[in-house]
Amino acid sequence: MDEKKVMLSGIQPSGDLHLGNYLGAIKTWVDRTEEFDNYYFMADMHTITVRQNPADLRRRTLEQLALYIACGLDPEKNTLFIQSHVHQHAELGWVLQCYTMFGELSRMTQFKDKSAKHKENINGGLFAYPSLMAADILLYQPDLVPVGEDQKQHCELTRDVAQRFNSIYGDVFKVPEPYIPKAGARVMSLNAPDSKMSKSLPEGCIFLMEKPEDIQRKFKRAITDSDTENCVRFDPAAKPGVSNLMSIYSAITGRTFEQIEAEFAGCGYGAFKPAVGEAVVECLRPIREEATRILADKAYLESVYKAGAEKASYVANKTLRKVYKKLGFVAR
Ligand code: TYM
Repeated sequence: MDEKKVMLSGIQPSGDLHLGNYLGAIKTWVDRTEEFDNYYFMADMHTITVRQNPADLRRRTLEQLALYIACGLDPEKNTLFIQSHVHQHAELGWVLQCYTMFGELSRMTQFKDKSAKHKENINGGLFAYPSLMAADILLYQPDLVPVGEDQKQHCELTRDVAQRFNSIYGDVFKVPEPYIPKAGARVMSLNAPDSKMSKSLPEGCIFLMEKPEDIQRKFKRAITDSDTENCVRFDPAAKPGVSNLMSIYSAITGRTFEQIEAEFAGCGYGAFKPAVGEAVVECLRPIREEATRILADKAYLESVYKAGAEKASYVANKTLRKVYKKLGFVAR
């Protein structure tokens, strides 16, 4: 039998999971579970490039795992683990820093954004972050890395680093492809449609564990466009607010923009916004309920992340041993 291809991705537990994380990343992971051998992790080591409150980080890491499962990632079919439990990430991360160029790291948009936001703490980890991300990926020799649009640049750097390493030492790493979904790859803030949805703009952000009434309130207050047309039409340049709501609705219902335009023809924004809110509420309701149930069962969560780390370490170690040998490190 042919071996399945490998898919891998991760999310930082630096904030509560939101609709952007779900539509840009997790939903694709779930939709394609059966086709691949899957590895998904909580990228806790990445979060400390910005100061974290330790108790919050611990809570969010476990909540993230519960949400992964509640969104449909069956731990029997997906290796779910916590990044810091697999020490090979830190080890390969160091190696790959030595194969990532200062100029490359300086050009990363996420570094530029975060160093502008946290001027008091522009640390080495924030700068070298993409080398650790490359290690996260390359350890598992994946074919596909499903991420939202904003992580494309880091995935491309990962490919460059893998190719550079391979050109010196032979075929050590598989060179992976990023996979960006057609709908939902860049969910924008509901109250600032020129910024991406993120935890740092909470009023425009829908969190997966949020109460239905809060979700509806945010949708009703969503910024629509100041044109006089008052008609549901997809045009991101002229109508960024409405187009964002259409993208969310499309990603959740699977309907095309033409179908959505037809569905809301003559309705105006007043009817459209609560309809999108309702679709999101109904999509998230079972997820929230299931995550709450799973979170209460700490022993189950522990069994999942321990089994996940064991399997991940086994795979990661094979790659790391190969790398160390190529580099000339004496075998342990
Ligand atoms: P992070 O934690 O910021 O985001 C996790 C995933 O969610 C996607 N995403 C979005 N997609 C659509 N619209 C949005 N508004 C939105 N906001 C976030 C991101 O594109 C991402 O797929 N460096 C990574 C985490 C990471 C990783 C990895 C990812 C660490 N190691 C290895 C893949 C492979 C990050 O900060 O994503």
